[in-house]
Amino acid sequence: MHYQGNSLEQHWMPFTANRAFKAEPRLIRRAEGTYLFNQNGDRIIDGSSGLFCSPAGHCHPKIIEAVHEQMKVNTYTAPFGLGHDGSFALAAEVAKLTPEAINHVFFVNSGSEAVDTALKIAMAYNNARGQAYRNRFVSRERAYHGVNIGGVSLSGMVKNRETFPLVMPNVVLMRHTWTGEDLFCAGQPDNGGELAEDLQRICDTYGGGQIAAVIVEPVAGSTGVLVPPKGYLERIREICDAQGIVLIFDEVITGFGRMGENFAAQTFGVTPDIMTMAKALTNGSIPMGAVAVKDEIYDAVIDSSPDGAIEFFHGYTYSGHPAACAAGNAMMGLIAEEGLFERSKALAPYFHEAVMSLKDHPLVRDIRAIGLIAGVEVHPYPAPGARGTAMQRDMFWGGLHVKFTGDVGILAPQFIAEPEHVDEMIGKFRTVLDAHDKAVPRAAE
Ligand SMILES: Cc1ncc(COP(=O)(O)O)c(C=O)c1O
Repeated sequence: MHYQGNSLEQHWMPFTANRAFKAEPRLIRRAEGTYLFNQNGDRIIDGSSGLFCSPAGHCHPKIIEAVHEQMKVNTYTAPFGLGHDGSFALAAEVAKLTPEAINHVFFVNSGSEAVDTALKIAMAYNNARGQAYRNRFVSRERAYHGVNIGGVSLSGMVKNRETFPLVMPNVVLMRHTWTGEDLFCAGQPDNGGELAEDLQRICDTYGGGQIAAVIVEPVAGSTGVLVPPKGYLERIREICDAQGIVLIFDEVITGFGRMGENFAAQTFGVTPDIMTMAKALTNGSIPMGAVAVKDEIYDAVIDSSPDGAIEFFHGYTYSGHPAACAAGNAMMGLIAEEGLFERSKALAPYFHEAVMSLKDHPLVRDIRAIGLIAGVEVHPYPAPGARGTAMQRDMFWGGLHVKFTGDVGILAPQFIAEPEHVDEMIGKFRTVLDAHDKAVPRAAE
């Protein structure tokens, strides 16, 4: 038998500089609450809730127990034509959190699958209402909608697109909403609401009646926390209503209390027709995503098929997996029992003040914050993204996990974090900023 030993070589890691990682691995051996522990036993505070996944803290005993109990009695149910109690219970709990008109939930296994499913639901709905000719999708520059072909087609991040030219056709991008006019802003910027008129211009150019759906992240998370300017989402909703366009909110990051309310839809007071979610749905413990839709969309698709026929030809082998549902149901319990969303809301002002204290640092170009998420953007050096990558690595060895996208460090504390945890994150962030500041001669900037 060929024995390979404990090699890092075989695993092709996702969204990772494989050669750099394998030369200097960063392994997590254990996680508990707000902390991660690496291969040396060092304690690392989690400044990004993993990847915005774990607001209730790592290794929550109630989630572990719920999954364990579930796995003892039923490890798998074929989801096409069969069901198990957990998925119905979870859908009912999720529907209690979504806006009033949104009461039907389709389960998937990730945010990317949620996005592609949402697009297909929009197509099925347009078909059901006799408007199958709507064949154009509208998204935004600097959007991130996951990595499947639908989501990549709708994304506005060059690195995620340039290698994959053969994506979905007929996608038009609006401009992103970072104008540079409201630097160091906590909450919604005053400027930029008029960028919603991009959608009107697209309707005027292509015909609003040809547009199948518009998709936006209420707050563009992965590209560095771009908060919607005041009035922006309201105007997008207004244009969609006027043109009969399906509006999708991609709430994979913003959902489940990150903005203080249940979903960003409630925080901003704008209700989409379809919303995607994932990540915090199971506290990141088991892969799961979901798409929630307005009753009229569900009814139209269901009623357009003859009795007894499958109404929507879509689904995944692991849709509504029993283990994921058990984790999701446990998480729904924790949201209520531990007042997780209230904690998120209560911590936000402290977090904003703390993160904005980095404003005085010469390496910091902008800080954008809302709810329990903030993007700290550093001046690029020596090439775009290089400093961000180096800082993320150095923070890890300095005892802080922060996810960087390009040169933006995205801080997103867990909802169980206390002010002293926030202080620890910001203190360690500053230490690494200082180290990088000293490492580069001023004139070289
Ligand atoms: C807004 C948004 N949509 C979709 C995704 C993709 O989710 P996943 O990585 O679970 O496929 C992400 C991931 O960060 C996201 O932020």
